[in-house]
Amino acid sequence: MKAIAVFPQQKQIRLIDHPAPALASPTDVKLRIIEVGVCGTDKEICAFEYGTPPPGEDHLVIGHESLGEVVEIGPGVKRVKRGDLVVPMVRRPCPHKECLACQEGRQDFCYTNDFTERGIKERHGFMTEFVVDDERYMNVVPAELRDVGVLVEPLTIAEKAITQIWQVQQRLPWACPLEPGKPAGYCHRAVVLGAGPVGLLGAMALTVSGFETYVYSREERPNPKADLVESFGAKYISSTTTPVEQLAGQIGNIDVVYEAVGASSLAFAVIEQLGMNAIFVFTGVPGRKAPIEVDTDRLMRNLVLKNQVLFGSVNASREAFEAAINDLGIFMKRWPKAVRGLITGRFAMDAYSDLLLGKAGGIKNVITISH
Ligand code: BGC
Repeated sequence: MKAIAVFPQQKQIRLIDHPAPALASPTDVKLRIIEVGVCGTDKEICAFEYGTPPPGEDHLVIGHESLGEVVEIGPGVKRVKRGDLVVPMVRRPCPHKECLACQEGRQDFCYTNDFTERGIKERHGFMTEFVVDDERYMNVVPAELRDVGVLVEPLTIAEKAITQIWQVQQRLPWACPLEPGKPAGYCHRAVVLGAGPVGLLGAMALTVSGFETYVYSREERPNPKADLVESFGAKYISSTTTPVEQLAGQIGNIDVVYEAVGASSLAFAVIEQLGMNAIFVFTGVPGRKAPIEVDTDRLMRNLVLKNQVLFGSVNASREAFEAAINDLGIFMKRWPKAVRGLITGRFAMDAYSDLLLGKAGGIKNVITISH
């Protein structure tokens, strides 16, 4: 079967012929992959800055944002059936008994770093025709979400972050006063850094949760991303016209920052704009650049005197996948055009080099593997 793979030692990306997988255990499920999204992590792997082939192999089949259809199930499978649309999870647990997280199925919090990730770390990914994996990693997507189901995985990043924001903020009186019909976050303001797919999906999720949501990104308005942001009820602020120092002045007390841009200099500048009792979540993985200057006294003073929390979040649990599927359904009811607008283009497998080597623009590009 066809697969898109990187060969790190040879520094090559190729469309290869790869052995088709077969069911190996009673709880295995075989998927026919329909679509795979291309993300920044894939591009980094293709720039040979990240990503590791399975042990003993010279290549890694990439791709971790996917939508597939169940075509075969083992005799012990209970959670899915043939014909179901599913989005598989990315991370697989480490084998160590002392890893409390992996032992509990929370490999997104693995302690040992010996987890594997499909399409990223030591396990082949989904940019291929067929995939086999255990049913416990499958998340069923309703048929009506078929044309946007590939957005589930990037949305899980926001879902995990938002769950943690609520958990952490429970330590203080942060819950908005109950108002019938108003979503939980209605009394708070959230800023999303970055208008890429992770940022825009995060902005939609924050908006659905009731936060007054602002997307802060470079491009000046008017531009298509600003229009998209405003079409789902969030506000767009350009860093070209509103420098970081003016952000809090323009918005008011910034309660939440959801960082989805991977640029540490911008992120640390925005930390200075955080309000009282605010929380900041990093989701981007910056490349290693030269060190920058940060006013650490000011940062530390604010963290203490304003009760602020900064935290990082990676990967996602089953609950985050379920929340993403649920939210995507809500987004599609409210803003079908905006959600579809996140997918810039669909391409055949042989367009891989333009998509992965950075020439293709837009928001989310998708590789269609089968129909
Ligand atoms: C993926 C995560 C993964 C992370 C780090 C992201 O692009 O969505 O599943 O854990 O990269 O490898």
